[in-house]
Amino acid sequence: MIVIMGATGTIGSALLERLVDLGVPARALSREPEKLRDQIGEKGRSTIEVAFADASDPESLRRAFTGASQVFLAMTNSPRQVELETSIIQIASEAGIKHIVKISSPAFEQSSPVAVASWHQEIEKTLSESGLAHTVLRPYAFMQNLLRLAPTITTQNVFYGCMGDSPCNFIDCRDIADVAAKVLTNREVSGQIYTLTGSEIFSYPQIASKLSALLNRPISYINMEPQILLRNLIEHGHMPPWLANHVVEIQTMSTVVPESPNDTVKRLLGREPRTLDAFLHEYFR
Ligand SMILES: NC(=O)c1ccc[n+]([C@@H]2O[C@H](COP(=O)([O-])OP(=O)(O)OC[C@H]3O[C@@H](n4cnc5c(N)ncnc54)[C@H](OP(=O)(O)O)[C@@H]3O)[C@@H](O)[C@H]2O)c1
Repeated sequence: MIVIMGATGTIGSALLERLVDLGVPARALSREPEKLRDQIGEKGRSTIEVAFADASDPESLRRAFTGASQVFLAMTNSPRQVELETSIIQIASEAGIKHIVKISSPAFEQSSPVAVASWHQEIEKTLSESGLAHTVLRPYAFMQNLLRLAPTITTQNVFYGCMGDSPCNFIDCRDIADVAAKVLTNREVSGQIYTLTGSEIFSYPQIASKLSALLNRPISYINMEPQILLRNLIEHGHMPPWLANHVVEIQTMSTVVPESPNDTVKRLLGREPRTLDAFLHEYFR
């Protein structure tokens, strides 16, 4: 049995859909199981079992892991991420889980520290030391993050950032989910660390051009000083400071450490990754 943690999340919900299509049984967990049942709908009911679990509640994890052999682990970023994922790994080990697939993030160089990436490094270290078989997926920025730019695009025809014209990797979360399904169902490709990207890199000014063509009106990217973006995200975007700091750190990092795409998704799935053009067409038109 495969246990899915983060089943209501961006990657986890796409993974569940993939497993349903493949007819692979799984136990999906949430702190809100009723909401998760609605998400799965009729189609998944025969193969997907839904259970309550809260990573802050060890007993709920023990119940959820009983009789399972694999855990897929995607957890919302929060200042408690290291503590919660460490507890999950420890309880999974005690429960006899054989393989964990962890969603991590790229390991960035010290020249541009990213706090959330260092949390993932710490969790990866715990996973290595646990003795459990594990596969680590390190995706670059999700295309789905671009949906957060929609409000100012709709109301002001602009979006903001601090990454200048640096090109970045973007990956569609559905490709991450397809890779996760592959490593959960195919032992030959598990047990590795995979850095995941799309097939091309794009800068924010290039995305503004694409959106202008798609929406048939001028959309502009406004570049800001990192400290001004940080203040705006906290004061006007009402983001908690640690999250605003993460957005600024990750964008600053892309101006310092050049990014390039790799062919990991294609090697694992035998097809090209989903494209940014297709994503923008699907969600912004
Ligand atoms: N966004 C990016 O560009 C990017 C890039 C690289 C890596 N990542 C990594 O991707 C991960 C997030 O993946 P995602 O976006 O798919 O996740 P997400 O949409 O943020 O949702 C993750 C899940 O976390 C679960 N969760 C939160 N607190 C929980 C708790 N106490 N107990 C049990 N479950 C809990 C939620 O489940 P319920 O609410 O249903 O309980 C939810 O389903 C992060 O670790 C992030 O660092 C993101």
